Order: sequence, then C-alpha cells, then structure tokens
Amino acid sequence: MASVLFVCTGNICRSPTAEGVFRHLARAEGLERAFAWDSAGTQSFHEGEAPDARTVAAALRRGIDITDLRARRVRPEDFHAFDYIYAMDRGHYRALTGLCPRGARANISLFLESGGHAELQDVPDPWGRGDDGFDIVFEMIADATEKIFQDLKEKEAEK
Ligand code: 4NP
Repeated sequence: MASVLFVCTGNICRSPTAEGVFRHLARAEGLERAFAWDSAGTQSFHEGEAPDARTVAAALRRGIDITDLRARRVRPEDFHAFDYIYAMDRGHYRALTGLCPRGARANISLFLESGGHAELQDVPDPWGRGDDGFDIVFEMIADATEKIFQDLKEKEAEK
C-alpha cells in the first residue's frame, strides 16, 4: 500500500483537485485498497470548507466530483503517516521540508517534477484570478496526477 498527500496553500483549489483525480483513477482501476490519499494546506484559512466553487465546476466538467472534500491544514503526523507528500509549488515545498520532523517517513517532492513537468515547477495559484484559470490548472494537475498514479502503480507492482 502506498499513501499520498497533496499539499497547496488553502486546500480548496489545487490539492483537492489532485486528490480528486487520484481518487478517480484509483477507483476506476479498482485499486482503492492499494492506495490511500488525502490533501491538505499549509495554511488554515479555509479549514473545514468545501473546495472553491470554481474548482468544483472545473472538475465536474471532466466528470470528477470533489464536493465532499473538506479543507484542513498539514499536521506533524502527516509526515509519519504518508509515504509521499507532493508540494504544488516551491513555496509549499520549502514549508513542508521545514515542518518535516527528523526521521519521518514521508518522501517530499515537487508535484510537477514527480508528475513529468519539471520545467513548469509551480502549479499556478488560480484562487485570486479569473474564472478561466481554473480549467488550465485542472488540466495541468490532471496530467501530472495521472503520471504520479501510473508511476506509483508500477512501484507497487514491483513490491
Ligand atoms: P489553493 O488556493 O492553495 O490552491 O487552495 C488558495 C486558496 C486560498 C488562498 C490561497 C490560495 N488564500 O490565501 O486564502
């Protein structure tokens, strides 16, 4: 079993999108038992809230329902509980490596680097922008999540 945690700032746009896509792929392939997934934010501004309505709409347009997800902040236990933690941008990566306790099991990486788009580095924050940004960000996240999912599936098969 491999466990993954996607992390952005507010946990209402980028990381719940990645979680929703990952969950969709795992369910579509009947691999719910092979993986555990979650998402979180480096900040607590939106704790307990559902994803942003524009993020929900962009996902629904591709048949992915994330309305049930609720925002939470990253917790120290996460670094022990998850095998892989994916940072949506370099700021999140720095925050996560700073928070990570010594000896924790989590492997922290930049989401787009693991997702085959190292050249892009950061998933742009769509929150303070216009509505069209959400579709672009969705596509970027879906593509990288699919790559991460396929890579982890291969790793699990090798175990
Ligand atoms: P997210 O987007 O990190 O992709 O969920 C943001 C949501 C809220 C804020 C920033 C980014 N905020 O500053 O409240």
